[in-house]
Amino acid sequence: MKTEHIVRTFVEYFEERGHRRVTGSTLLPPPGDPVLFTTSGMHPLTPYLEGRPHPLGGRLVNVQRCLRTTDLEEVGDPTHLTVFEMLGTWSLGDYEGPQSLDWGYGLLTEGLGVDPGLLHATVHGGDDRTGPDTASLEFWQSRGVPVELTVEDNWWSNGPTGPCGPDSEIFLWSGDTPPRSTPTRDDRWVEVWNHVMMRHRRLDDGSLVPLPQRNIDTGLGLERLASLLQGGSSVYEGDVFDPWRRVVPPMWPLEESSLRLVYDHLRSAVVILGDGVRPSNTGQGYVPRRLLRRVLTVLWRGDPSRSLEELPVELVEHTLDHFRQPMDPGDVRGVLLDEQRRFGRLLDRGRQVLTRPRFRGPLGEDDFHYLHDTHGLPRELVMSLRQEQRG
Ligand code: SER
Repeated sequence: MKTEHIVRTFVEYFEERGHRRVTGSTLLPPPGDPVLFTTSGMHPLTPYLEGRPHPLGGRLVNVQRCLRTTDLEEVGDPTHLTVFEMLGTWSLGDYEGPQSLDWGYGLLTEGLGVDPGLLHATVHGGDDRTGPDTASLEFWQSRGVPVELTVEDNWWSNGPTGPCGPDSEIFLWSGDTPPRSTPTRDDRWVEVWNHVMMRHRRLDDGSLVPLPQRNIDTGLGLERLASLLQGGSSVYEGDVFDPWRRVVPPMWPLEESSLRLVYDHLRSAVVILGDGVRPSNTGQGYVPRRLLRRVLTVLWRGDPSRSLEELPVELVEHTLDHFRQPMDPGDVRGVLLDEQRRFGRLLDRGRQVLTRPRFRGPLGEDDFHYLHDTHGLPRELVMSLRQEQRG
């Protein structure tokens, strides 16, 4: 089952149940938002979760690209990507949690053919803020799906303040043995769909107050679900990575963990550039710059003659097409090459500066500040150059 088919099935399923599709889903958050990039499907909908009437009504569905740099160190594991797509549904003060879970279960098992025996749910077990989520627990019990109760893992918020609430997560078994254990004890249970009962708002002082309406916010990780339905054991085995897996390894023979970093970071950088961001030293632009530098560091570690010049424009085009971005692939590739040249020059300068006697011994905070402010060398880069010099 191709990714495009999953998206269509999802959207149609919820449209048939009265949801209207929200379009306009770039990585750039709405104006005035303090966050650099959209991190979840609910993010652009925050004002409506807080009570403003949405022009399309109280039942919404969408496909939202998201970017999470908090997960950067986890990239390369089977489930985390920097840029990923989230299929989302919302009830803005309309239906309640059990209805949302019922549709979620129905779509997975009937719409997408998932074996119900491969599902596990988790539910909020209650704490001093809120009672146990018995409605979700009873729903899963009525369907015969095993449930694990947790506290921290079943509470969702998009930041320290704002809309939040208990959630019920749906996990799919990815192992090649029959399912066993529970999601918190065995990571072969992969979280695919989170249903948040978003009815609280956290204030600056940490207290919770009820939102003006009881919402449901759900998010399904598209690449995770697609790769599992396609029989893969990691997100990189899904069809969206097919062209990358075909083209990159013969060109740059790297070990699997480095290949995954290259696929993830290059693809993410292309999507960010495709949304109109240009590399820079601060703010949004620093994210693609950092991603590309991590890629180049991995490539040049094995062979300094490797170059993004070798990257076929078709890979850029495939990614821009998938995300329906109108940017010219040649222009995006041009930005990648400019960044490569700039990083190459920075490395040359860094190597030269670090041979000075002052930088031979242990470096103090003053040295790091000087290297950064005078020579534009970030700490991360200084550390890796020193490692290289120590050989
Ligand atoms: N906001 C929740 C999440 O990102 C559900 O959409 O997981």
